Amino acid sequence: MAPTPVPLTSRPQWQALTELQRSLATCHMRDLFGQDPDRAQRFFAEGAGLSLDFSKNRITDEVLSALMALARACDLPGRTEAMFLGEQVNETEKRPALHTALRNTGADPVLVDGRDVMPEVQETLARMDTFTRDVITGHRSGFTGKRFTDVVSIGIGGSYLGPRLVSEALLPYHHGQLRGHFVANIDGSDITEVLNRVNPETTLFLVQSKSFRTQETLENSRVARDWFLANGGAERDIAGHFVAVTANASEAGRFGIRTDNVFPMWDWVGGRYSLWSAIGLPIALLVGMDQFRALLAGAHDMDLHFRHTPLERNLPVLMAMLGVWYSNFWGADTHAILPYDHYLESLPSHLQQLDMESNGKCVTRDGRAISYQTGPVIWGGVGANGQHAYHQLLHQGTRLIPADFIIPLRSHNPVGEHHASLFANCLSQTRALMAGKTEAEALEELAAEGMSAGEAAELAPHKVIPGNKPSNTLVMDKLTPHTLGALIALYEHRTFVQGVIWDVDSFDQWGVELGKQMGKEI
Ligand code: F6P
Repeated sequence: MAPTPVPLTSRPQWQALTELQRSLATCHMRDLFGQDPDRAQRFFAEGAGLSLDFSKNRITDEVLSALMALARACDLPGRTEAMFLGEQVNETEKRPALHTALRNTGADPVLVDGRDVMPEVQETLARMDTFTRDVITGHRSGFTGKRFTDVVSIGIGGSYLGPRLVSEALLPYHHGQLRGHFVANIDGSDITEVLNRVNPETTLFLVQSKSFRTQETLENSRVARDWFLANGGAERDIAGHFVAVTANASEAGRFGIRTDNVFPMWDWVGGRYSLWSAIGLPIALLVGMDQFRALLAGAHDMDLHFRHTPLERNLPVLMAMLGVWYSNFWGADTHAILPYDHYLESLPSHLQQLDMESNGKCVTRDGRAISYQTGPVIWGGVGANGQHAYHQLLHQGTRLIPADFIIPLRSHNPVGEHHASLFANCLSQTRALMAGKTEAEALEELAAEGMSAGEAAELAPHKVIPGNKPSNTLVMDKLTPHTLGALIALYEHRTFVQGVIWDVDSFDQWGVELGKQMGKEI
């Protein structure tokens, strides 16, 4: 029998972090910056086109080494290799999790049960290449011979959020010959609104479902097929207008989708990690295959960074361990994702599924009840809009909410002074969260405005901003397919690292399955 592993909270590294938290509990980040003017240069790391300033965190060198010691004690390097090498890291479903193989541009084989999966991956990319080119050039057209003008992608969860995020984020790269629409909800208004906008003669439907058993997707696809048949399409035309991406080709066939219109998915790709597979077909159709490959290349660069960079300079590891620090030692319940780029509006929703479906678990990999906090609530929205909404709570609320600020140096739309203002807003938010405003500063400010001492004393407590609120700042040169690929892969690995520390199976989702089962019964 394998020896019972040491519980996470009994590890000496955990105890050391508990002690460090106690010693820092009354220390303010202002003081840390005061004592160490080089802090911003030292707590800085970069990789795959992204730079991370993590100086505005409640950390010292000692904390950082203790966090890395915990990562090593949990065998993070070994578990990372196991994932990349195709071992069954999804233990409850007895599967590997090989989203990294989908973007592997290296020459090394990736083995699943002794079989190299790279030829199938390459073959699928080649099929996507031909298909997207045929649709974009009009070589493949609708049933009346007209070019396709619209692509309706029907899927939910990972078969929806990732493709939608990337399609929106890469809007400046759309070739413009096709409009993209995404339908997910079982609320009939979702599909109805899309069908109201498109023409059956020129609309291509993509049914995106790994299992081809998801109720929302199947119902919406049936509605789309009925609408198509009721509006001029004939049964024989379905083949030209309906394409599926699934690991269940036989169910797709029963739905009426021809085998040669089915793109494969594999058991070893988790739904929330699937945008890199043929589930990314809507993206490829909208931006072209070259840009899709650039997206994969960016993610692959991040994979290399994650796999080969020492933990202390490793972006996903740093961000993950800082998350563990706040969740488990400072009582943070949520984590905010704040992209300062309008094209990244859907990033928080995608990361919400990625992280919460992966690490929202309450038993360890071997089924023991967990006594510590695992995945936090992930939420967020674009800046600067959030500054006029929920940032108030970040600054003066009673909760501790670590936040990631994400911003490109250059905008796709250099309108007037907009980008400089956006950038200034982003940086000033991180600074304000860190530094806050003391009572003395508030009083001084009010006096300078001409307020009487009595009035100022009354108002000052309300103007005090405690500060000491942690944030990371992630910067890229520009939001391109490459940097976007790297950014999403960064968060995938961050999620994986936290799963390793918390000892959960980050690749199953039994909680969701229960909901699906009950939905059907009721
Ligand atoms: O809703 C949970 C989930 O299992 C996701 O992980 C998955 O991406 C989604 O359902 C959709 O599943 P499918 O692609 O099989 O339709």
